[in-house]
Parts: sequence; structure tokens; C-alpha cells
Amino acid sequence: MTDGKQEHWDAVYRVKAADSVSWYQPMPEPSLRTLDELHLPATASLIDVGGGASSLVDRLLERGWSDLTVLDIAAPALEVAKARLRGGAAQVDWVVADITVWRPERGYDVWHDRALFHFLTEPAQRLAYRRALDAGTAPGSVVIIATFAPDGPERCSGLPVRRYDAAALAAEFSPAFILERDWREEHATPGGGRQSFQWCVLHRR
Ligand SMILES: C[S@@+](CC[C@H](N)C(=O)[O-])C[C@H]1O[C@@H](n2cnc3c(N)ncnc32)[C@H](O)[C@@H]1O
Repeated sequence: MTDGKQEHWDAVYRVKAADSVSWYQPMPEPSLRTLDELHLPATASLIDVGGGASSLVDRLLERGWSDLTVLDIAAPALEVAKARLRGGAAQVDWVVADITVWRPERGYDVWHDRALFHFLTEPAQRLAYRRALDAGTAPGSVVIIATFAPDGPERCSGLPVRRYDAAALAAEFSPAFILERDWREEHATPGGGRQSFQWCVLHRR
């Protein structure tokens, strides 16, 4: 990348403890609950884009999921997750890439994105994300995505974000992806703050 984003995120994960960043969740409860509600089998393939050091992959490995990929622009974030998983790390595909330039070489049953998409403030960035999404999914694939809601923070990690309600978020992926369910979540940050998130589940036609 030439726009400084990679350097920004590398520095975040080098300087801050993984459990001190505002987006830290001790348990990725909304994601796990959604996967349960969708009755997805552990044989399904899942990519966590902008997965960072999230423990979603840990919890899915515990549940027997075997086709997991974590993509992030920040290699140090993935190193944190790998160190935590120890031997389990070998069971995960780790991809260091900018989602706006990455082109998947395969498809995934589940595309999971908690708090990456809202950093794409330029239309061209969102178009590039959409190209990756289109290439990385197939009819029947599920997208589980969360961004800051309209009353959520205007910035995250010092960067501006674009906030969405369910209709606006679904419109970003229309018409190929159909909104199946949506809800809001009040995320409790490690610092004691609250952040409004908008979650959507979409299905690819
Ligand atoms: C707010 S954090 C969320 C991390 C994780 N999804 C979670 O819920 O804990 C956003 C993540 O997106 C990553 N990221 C930001 N821009 C990206 C891009 N263009 N391509 C890939 N990853 C990106 C960051 O490095 C960071 O790990």
C-alpha cells in the first residue's frame, strides 16, 4: 500500500495490547450466535476479513471448523492471533493483504467482516471491496458484516469511518446480496465506553 494504511495498522498492533483496543471482545458473541442461528455446519468455509487479532477463529476451531481463513492488512495482528493459537495456527490460512487490492483465488461459504468495511470512506475503495467479495463468494454464500451505526463513533483508531444503518449497508451489496436479517449492538469497549454497531446478514443470490 502507498497510502499509509498498512503502516498505521501495523503500528497499532505493535504498540497496543490486543485486549486494550476499542474493538476488543473477550468473546465474539454476536458472530458466534449468528453462525449458530444460521445452522452453518463446521465443514463450511469462512473468511474473516479484517480479522485482526480477533478470537473468532479460536472459538471456531474449538467448535470443529476446519476451513478458516483470516485476512488482515496488518501482519502484526495475525502474529498475535497465531501466537495465541500455538499449534492450532497451522489449521488456519493467514493472509496479509489489503482487501481493496486482494483477489481471492477461491470462494468461501461465509464472508465475515466486523469493523473493516466502515474504514472504506471512498467509493473506489468500496467498489474494490465489492470486487473481492464477488470473487470470494458464490450463490448461496453468506455475508456477516458489522459497521458503526449512524449514532456510532465518527472515527476509529484515529481514522475516519463511514457509518451505516441496515438499509444503507445492504444497499452497498445490492442487488447480488439480499438482506436477511439486521440488528444493532452496543459494544462495550475495554475502556468502559459504548459503541453502536449495525450488523447485517446477507445472502448471495
Ligand atoms: C477495528 S479492527 C477490527 C478487527 C477484528 N475484525 C475484530 O473484530 O476484532 C479493523 C481491522 O481491519 C484491518 N484493516 C483495515 N483496513 C484494512 C484493509 N484495507 N484491508 C485489510 N484489513 C484492513 C485492521 O488492520 C484491523 O485489524
